[in-house]
Amino acid sequence: MPKDNRNFFAKKKDWSEIKDTLLGAYLKPYFQKILTTKHPVFYVDCFSGKGRFDDGKPGSPIIALNVRKECMASTKSENASIDMCFIDLNYALELEKNLRDYGDFRWKPIIVSGKYEEKIIKVLENKRNYNVFLYIDPYGIQALDSELFDRFSMFAFASFEMLINFNSFGFFREACRVLKVDYTKDAALTDLDDLIEYSPIQVDSSQKSVELLNKIADGTYWQDIVNDFNAGKIDGYQAEERLSACYKQQLQKRYTYVLDMPIQIKKTNHPKYRLIHVCNHEDGCLLMAQNMLKRTDELVLNIQREGQMSIFDFMSDVSTDSSGKQTTIYDVKKKMCSYLQNYKGEVHLNKLLAEFYGKYGLIGYINMVNDALKELETDGFIQICRQPQFTGKTRQPSRFMEEKGGRSVIIRRLQS
Ligand SMILES: C[S@@+](CC[C@H](N)C(=O)[O-])C[C@H]1O[C@@H](n2cnc3c(N)ncnc32)[C@H](O)[C@@H]1O
Repeated sequence: MPKDNRNFFAKKKDWSEIKDTLLGAYLKPYFQKILTTKHPVFYVDCFSGKGRFDDGKPGSPIIALNVRKECMASTKSENASIDMCFIDLNYALELEKNLRDYGDFRWKPIIVSGKYEEKIIKVLENKRNYNVFLYIDPYGIQALDSELFDRFSMFAFASFEMLINFNSFGFFREACRVLKVDYTKDAALTDLDDLIEYSPIQVDSSQKSVELLNKIADGTYWQDIVNDFNAGKIDGYQAEERLSACYKQQLQKRYTYVLDMPIQIKKTNHPKYRLIHVCNHEDGCLLMAQNMLKRTDELVLNIQREGQMSIFDFMSDVSTDSSGKQTTIYDVKKKMCSYLQNYKGEVHLNKLLAEFYGKYGLIGYINMVNDALKELETDGFIQICRQPQFTGKTRQPSRFMEEKGGRSVIIRRLQS
């Protein structure tokens, strides 16, 4: 039975906390960095909610407004501006009330009452040359219209990013319903706590429902996955992984960098939903990768191990994802070696890292990937060329592995 959506804001749950922490932690460095481009920023929370949960905890709008206040107070950029817009179908009035004390008249957030699907194009219409960020956190999957994602990619924004809460298990359950496949005996699709019960999408076995899912998925690939699940070739967890990988691939047709962070709440070794970040610039992708890796560490530590440290927390050459899977520097090195085959010439480090995470997922800390690159240099497989080549005072060869503040790192392949 679907849960009554009105209960959603009664108490902030762990999984809302995880999403909002990731958002808040990303927005601060994002605003700080993007303000230096001198283009104005336009932030849209497309499914805002009430602004505040009934237990007093801040919702995504208040989190973003607080980060804006902090960044605007500290920025040195002239004419810096961050406009904010909050859309909600059901809670515009409560939002208005809860956000009353945020921002003077110049910085008053725009509140839009209605459906994101119907309002967003108009909201973005005059935002040419803005740095635009959309936070998309719906209850379910119905509003995730891939045609809109297509249209966003055609606007002439200065830059564009989206953070999407993709309820992949919810999608797969609907897909089974549409194709009349029984999923009720599969643990992955039944043991979902109260997560997907907030998605009262109405699907049946009609052609209209098939088309609705095609539109959300941006293709028909989900039908093959359901058929393989029905034939017993894959279980629910494998189906979800395949579905998410295909969903990501579709986004990669329009956006250069797509990252996903599987979110797991308890020690069950399986994710419950995914946060997907899309952008067209390697710096945005890397910033989010860093943030997701850090949040994954906190998640592993706080929720899965209930605060207990593990031996792996003290090892910088092993990383653990939220499903408990460990990655060593050797795994990273092997994958990097294979990925570098794509390059005949040279590539900037940031671009390489962003592409690597887009292809393999968040499989190791940035330090681990950098260490793997250094080992590949020692093995004679690549050359790492840094500018400036030497350190300022002592004139020692530079060792940095970071591209910022006038420093560049280029990776050059040496062997075929
Ligand atoms: C998951 S909640 C958002 C929670 C919010 N991000 C937070 O952390 O505080 C989803 C919100 O979307 C709203 N909503 C549902 N359908 C919508 C639609 N089609 N367009 C815009 N908002 C919608 C609901 O009223 C609800 O407040």
